[in-house]
Formats: sequence, structure tokens, C-alpha cells
Amino acid sequence: MDSSDLIWMNGEFLAWEDAKIHVLTHGLHYGTGVFEGVRCYDTELGPAVFRNAEHMERLLRSAELYYMPVPYTAQELQSATRDLVANNNLRSCYIRPIAYRGYGCDGPEPDGRPRRRHDRLLGVGHVFGRGRHDAKASEPRSPHGGASAPDSLIPHAKASGQYLNNVLAKVESMKAGYQEAILLDDHGHVCEGTGENIYIVSAGEIVTPGHHNSILDGITRRSIMQLAADLGYTVVERNIARAEMYLCRGGLHVRHRRRAGARR
Ligand SMILES: Cc1ncc(COP(=O)(O)O)c(C=O)c1O
Repeated sequence: MDSSDLIWMNGEFLAWEDAKIHVLTHGLHYGTGVFEGVRCYDTELGPAVFRNAEHMERLLRSAELYYMPVPYTAQELQSATRDLVANNNLRSCYIRPIAYRGYGCDGPEPDGRPRRRHDRLLGVGHVFGRGRHDAKASEPRSPHGGASAPDSLIPHAKASGQYLNNVLAKVESMKAGYQEAILLDDHGHVCEGTGENIYIVSAGEIVTPGHHNSILDGITRRSIMQLAADLGYTVVERNIARAEMYLCRGGLHVRHRRRAGARR
């Protein structure tokens, strides 16, 4: 990982090497953390944080779902994110906001008392590279699903503990010579990749699993669906059988092209 000069932690900018946490951090023992992965792109108008508001709102929603009070508003986190990019003099980067329970609790139950270290940290690294990925459907296991199973954890929360299953699937598929795993839901339908939502082209339409398939409500997914619809493609949310992943190919049909400047 490329380091940056500064990390924003508990409201302060710290040098990269000074942003540390205690070994008894609850989030380390029990996975009580929620996080985001945010991209910042270099544009003609300067660095642009992609969907900053949506990411910070989802971070706070994830924290709320796990009863974790975060002492900052989405607006404060957005502005800290912008300052972080500017103070690091970065044009494009990958930002990793994380809110976690700090130390002070012996068991899985947090004691509810506010602790300074219970809030969050924002880190900056550089954008990951892009490339072609060969993927393998992971063996169904319990809990299934990408981020989680619907009847145990909370698929809509982007929570640290929920990713153990994803890590296992990714490592196993890499050991088998692939670059990514495709997670299945508890009925064996395609759910998502270990760190991204999934789409196939079938019968001229873009098909993607729906929320009933235990997916993470991806911010990129929503943007892709909006852009595809604007360009005249049909996007369908439905169950995708594992075998469809092997069979899908062929071109996309354009329903209609929106005229430039047409009103929505
Ligand atoms: C399991 C999982 N699904 C989907 C996504 C895509 O979410 P987004 O587009 O909001 O980054 C991620 C992103 O980290 C993820 O970890």
C-alpha cells in the first residue's frame, strides 16, 4: 500500500506513522468496525471525491445498524475527507474511512459508555490498479452471501466482521489460480464479488442480483444502473443462477438513446 503524509483520526490530522490503535481494541477482537472505500479522481476541475455524501451516509447507517455511536455528522466527515485529500496534496487516491469500537470492553458486548477511541479514522492510500480478473464461483458455505447472510448479519452494513467469509473465498480462489471469487447467497444464487457488485449481459439486458440476494447496496451499482438507464439499456434486478455466469455472453440491446440535453 502506498502511504500518504497524513491521516485524519479522531478529528485531528496525524502523520501516517502516528495513527495507531491499542491491541485491546474491541474492533480487532470482535470485528466491530464499519468502513467505506472511496475513490478520488483527478479531473479537469481538480480532485473529485466520488459520491462523498453517499459513502459517509452509508458509513453512519452501517454504524447505527451495529449500535455504534459516531460523534460526527455525514457533512463533517465529507468535509474532513476533502481536507484530507487537499492536505496530502493528492490528485487521485483511495480513501478508507473506518469507525470502530475502541478498547475498554472485555466481552463482545460493548458497555455503551462513550470512549474517545470509539469513533473513527480516515486513511488515505493510492488508487488500486485495474486489470482483467478471472473469477471462480465460491463453494456455498454458511453464512452465505457477499457481505453476510440475511438471517444472521446485516447485508446492508459494510461491517469489518462480515468480511471474514469474503477473505476466505478470495484466498481460496487465488490459491486455485483465479483472481476473484463470486459469492453465492443462501439459496445458491449469485450474490456479488468479494469487494464489488456483479452484473451479467443476458438476452441483450444488463442483469444484476437484487437486494433479496443479500448484496451490499453498492454506490457504484446505483451509479451504473442510473448511467445504463440514461444510455437506453435495460437493467434487470433478479436472481442469477450460477450456471448463467458460464453461459452469459452477447451484445447489449439499446432500448432508446436519450437525446443529448433531453430532460429526465
Ligand atoms: C462485498 C462488497 N460488495 C459490493 C461492493 C461495492 O460497493 P461500492 O460500489 O459502494 O463501493 C463492495 C465495496 O467495497 C463490497 O465490499
